[in-house]
Amino acid sequence: MTSPNDKNAPAKLAPRGMRRNLASYGDPGFSLFLRKAFIKAAGFSDDALDRPIIGITNTFSDFNPCHGNVPRLIEAVKRGVMLAGGLPMEFPTVSIHESFSNPTSMFLRNLMAIDTEEMIRAQPMDSVVLIGGCDKTVPAQLMGAVSADVPAIQLITGPMLVGHHKGEILGACTDCRRLWGQHRAGTIDEAEIEVLSGRLAPTQGTCMVMGTASTMGCLVEALGIALPGTGTIPATHADRIRAAEASGKQAVALAKGTVRPGGERPGGLRPSELLTETAFRNAMVVLQAIGGSTNGLVHLAAIARRAGLSIDLEEFDAIGRAVPVLIDLKPSGDHYMEHFHWAGGVPKLMKELRAHLALDALTISGQTIGEIADAAEEVPNQTIIRSAASPLKQTGGMAVLRGNLAPGGAVIKHSAASPGLLQHTGRAVVFDSVEDMVTRMDDPALDVNADDVLVLRNAGPKGAPGMPEAGYLPIPKKLAQAGVKDMVRISDARMSGTAFGTIVLHITPESAVGGPLGLVRDGDLIRLDVPARQIELLVDAAELERRKAQWQAPAHLSEPSRGYRGLYLGSVLQADEGCDFDFC
Ligand code: FES
Repeated sequence: MTSPNDKNAPAKLAPRGMRRNLASYGDPGFSLFLRKAFIKAAGFSDDALDRPIIGITNTFSDFNPCHGNVPRLIEAVKRGVMLAGGLPMEFPTVSIHESFSNPTSMFLRNLMAIDTEEMIRAQPMDSVVLIGGCDKTVPAQLMGAVSADVPAIQLITGPMLVGHHKGEILGACTDCRRLWGQHRAGTIDEAEIEVLSGRLAPTQGTCMVMGTASTMGCLVEALGIALPGTGTIPATHADRIRAAEASGKQAVALAKGTVRPGGERPGGLRPSELLTETAFRNAMVVLQAIGGSTNGLVHLAAIARRAGLSIDLEEFDAIGRAVPVLIDLKPSGDHYMEHFHWAGGVPKLMKELRAHLALDALTISGQTIGEIADAAEEVPNQTIIRSAASPLKQTGGMAVLRGNLAPGGAVIKHSAASPGLLQHTGRAVVFDSVEDMVTRMDDPALDVNADDVLVLRNAGPKGAPGMPEAGYLPIPKKLAQAGVKDMVRISDARMSGTAFGTIVLHITPESAVGGPLGLVRDGDLIRLDVPARQIELLVDAAELERRKAQWQAPAHLSEPSRGYRGLYLGSVLQADEGCDFDFC
């Protein structure tokens, strides 16, 4: 037992446990004394307070069913921490759910990142367990943890189980979009779509296709900041609870500094030591091989930027030319996350990707990526995780496009596109904003046919604002009713990772800051050539200069904005820099 006045206490005022990050009263001894006085009001003993302190983020919210299992996970993390001799301290942070975030979850991701960073920084913890799952939560937590640079371990809430309807297996949200498309086309009536709303997301947990949440669940394993095999365990399973307990135990090892080679060292294994250029390259390989969400690329860029690194889009594209899609999951394939998990999960995938990965990269488990791959479970006759010899797609899931429409780059998930549209020239049908699209898309008088290119602008980070997942422009109703399933669609918006279609996204710079997308007019010809990685507006340069002279920024960018919206509009970066704030 020690006290602030004990001159012999070896760790007196050392920055560990309760002594970390003292509130400033001008007298550190008094600060610690006062802290202990208040925390003892909660019934803690001196023995407990002398242990390594493990912070646990509580992101439970009644508005976030993707995090519905968080209370049970916290209970198990605490058990793991205490079994290993630490003191668990749970604390709340912002929680974000895709469908309960106005205007968009992306608008709020940086708020959660700042909240997470400052709560880790402000409070005394020797390591932290980050519990997240729904799309923006994991990137926000990693952004915050990298900036705070306290040893951190990511625990994923886990994917939902699949749903069933009339003998068909369903999942959020690839099938949400497909079935809603059928409803718009008139082949599913009001009564059936109501029934379906109760069957597409049948359990707590995150969307169970290879959307953004699942993508991030895989990437945290590839980055080495989650325990191996834990990114894909279904939210409802006992193994998920055991993963939480194991993460709690490992967080104590991190706090003690016993994880990395060489044994116990002060300061643990910090995110800045783990999330290196090599780790991000491994993550890019896995992102291409899983046919992951395009959002994953934006989030990786944001996390890397916090680590003082950048994601090179050309390198990402080059990786995609060499690394095939090996996972047979929707929307690129046919199956769901629970099937991927039981086929061997990310360790087995990394085993198949050995030739492309930096195998000596260290992970939070103390093992290298190569050791994790070697230990992967072999599941006889599974077909979900393909070998390099029989991939789902010959190349990676995403391609980076350039051209006069996207000088800063654009991205297409070509693994989930129509092969016949990957080289296509069509007439532009332009929507000036999300509202304009909603108003006119289904107008029977809209001049549009199946060969046209649908263009949406002012839907980027500043333009919307919040870069909504509006890049999946719906097929105009009259064409959908005529059986058209896909068209080339381009925008400066994002798209849910769960969506299917020939859809060019993240056009940079966005139109609202003067990007060329703002110069497109109805009837212009646009050429998409994915094999050549090009997106071109076939209008001569002199005409584009004339249009540029007449261009005006959206009104909201010159109007006064207060609060977080003002901070966001003044500071948000473009997609190629991860849409982080410039001051972060
Ligand atoms: Fe939370 Fe899909 S809505 S993961």
